[in-house]
Amino acid sequence: MDDTDRSDYTPVEGPIGAGSIQTGSANPSPPAATESASVTLRVNGTMHTLATLDPRTTLLDVLREHLGLTGSKKGCDHGQCGACTVHVNGQRVLACLSLAIAHQRDEITTIEGLIDEDRLHPMQAAFIEHDAFQCGYCTPGQIMSAISLLQEAARGVPSHATPDVTAPPSLDRLSDEEIRERMSGNICRCGAYPNILAAIRQVQRTHTRGATP
Ligand code: FES
Ligand code: FES
Repeated sequence: MDDTDRSDYTPVEGPIGAGSIQTGSANPSPPAATESASVTLRVNGTMHTLATLDPRTTLLDVLREHLGLTGSKKGCDHGQCGACTVHVNGQRVLACLSLAIAHQRDEITTIEGLIDEDRLHPMQAAFIEHDAFQCGYCTPGQIMSAISLLQEAARGVPSHATPDVTAPPSLDRLSDEEIRERMSGNICRCGAYPNILAAIRQVQRTHTRGATP
């Protein structure tokens, strides 16, 4: 039998070529949730129980889609822009990266919860006074982060910009570089950074005169 003899060749059954690729198994759709969960959160001072929540639901989607609190924004949904920043038990958290079910009975504060009756939080007022926004999309996350920044500095938490992490600067000695670094997780596509810095500086000065951040 020479090289060109194909008399013993048995063709493969079924279609060949691109049409034979089994796309269903190569790119499966995500599995359906098999069960729901009951999740209770305290949001801006009010208890909310979601009795049949898909356990894969993020905290951001619970706030926006289930509770109607649309102040926290969904920018990237990947932990890269900071627009979804909220406070959980007093710490800043990216709500898009956090599952709601992980926060049973936690204390959540959103931008809507900052206002005291009809009085704006000092950071909100400073952002307005210093014109620290243009489109405003990033602003709720910027404000929530800015408040946490001052609280962290008051507790002596160092940052990547701290020259000596064993001796972090006190609240009144935070440099511009420190503030920018501590706000670096919050992106502003309008470039309002100089005015955001000015607003934070104003509130910082108030706190260093004795107010609690
Ligand atoms: S939406 Fe959460 S970090 Fe961008
Ligand atoms: S004010 Fe527009 S993204 Fe920051």
